[in-house]
Amino acid sequence: IDPTLDLVEEINKLKKEKNAVLLAHYYQEPEIQDIADYIGDSLGLSQQAAKTEADVIVFAGVHFMAETAKILSPQKKVLLPDLKAGCSLSDSCPPHLFAKFKEKYPDHIAITYVNCTAELKALTDIVCTSSNAVQIVESLPKDQKIIFGPDKNLGDYVKKKTGRDLVLWNGACMVHEIFSQERITQLRNDYPEAKFIAHPECEKEILDAADYVGSTSGLLKYTKENDANVFIVATESGIIHQMQKANPQKIFIPAPPNNACACNDCPYMKLNTLEKLYNCMKFELPEVDLPADIIERARRPIERMLEISE
Ligand code: 13P
Ligand code: SF4
Repeated sequence: IDPTLDLVEEINKLKKEKNAVLLAHYYQEPEIQDIADYIGDSLGLSQQAAKTEADVIVFAGVHFMAETAKILSPQKKVLLPDLKAGCSLSDSCPPHLFAKFKEKYPDHIAITYVNCTAELKALTDIVCTSSNAVQIVESLPKDQKIIFGPDKNLGDYVKKKTGRDLVLWNGACMVHEIFSQERITQLRNDYPEAKFIAHPECEKEILDAADYVGSTSGLLKYTKENDANVFIVATESGIIHQMQKANPQKIFIPAPPNNACACNDCPYMKLNTLEKLYNCMKFELPEVDLPADIIERARRPIERMLEISE
């Protein structure tokens, strides 16, 4: 890339030229969030992907999110700046093993967290995100037997909130499993006025100690509406950009991880850069596409989710 290029200007030009919409997840680098047409959580992003009138969807997020956009808008071109932007949670649930797991529970319906491959979605009955998982489980009859995957932490949280007995797949997110309860307690002692907030992908002990648990958009909303001036945030660090923008006078402290050398960045989300974004829009590559039968089969469980969370 020509180092004299103003990438923000060029990306904005390409958006117009190609009638492209740029969707970004809250975990993206601040500079990417700042040029997005829409920034949101997984649910908000899929709702945008379903209703956009653009010809091209550029997804600044991870692979499963771009796949979901493709499933909902199959006639559109969907671009992802780096195809290696995967997800450890999605990787923790290979579809062929989930199919075997499902066979063991023939009278259960399968709910899957959106953080999974399109192939896995095609095997399931309803998809959910962290912002509507409780609502989706509660929309089903009380005696409905349910298997839930891939995230065991979100699954445990839903069990606690709904009082239902879900059968859980044993998967987890590498970013949300690293928080140190001990170091968080120390930090709360140092800032007794701070509110401790956590994403439901965190482990049970962390969630039990939190003042508020919610999806990325839920966490952001809480920091806007709550009167506290200090927040300890247990999720990927990208969300702090929007929290800080909306509340310039408040202080946001990333929850400390177990290992002092670790950070709260998702290595997959952070693969996307402005340079890669520019290249992918200019050359319309890499494109995320799926076989027609997978689109067909995965669409139904996602649409059921969107209907329930309207
Ligand atoms: P939400 O955006 O639904 O809160 O999910 C977070 C996440 O881990 C996305 O990968
Ligand atoms: Fe996947 Fe975790 Fe990264 Fe979200 S934060 S994309 S769940 S690895």
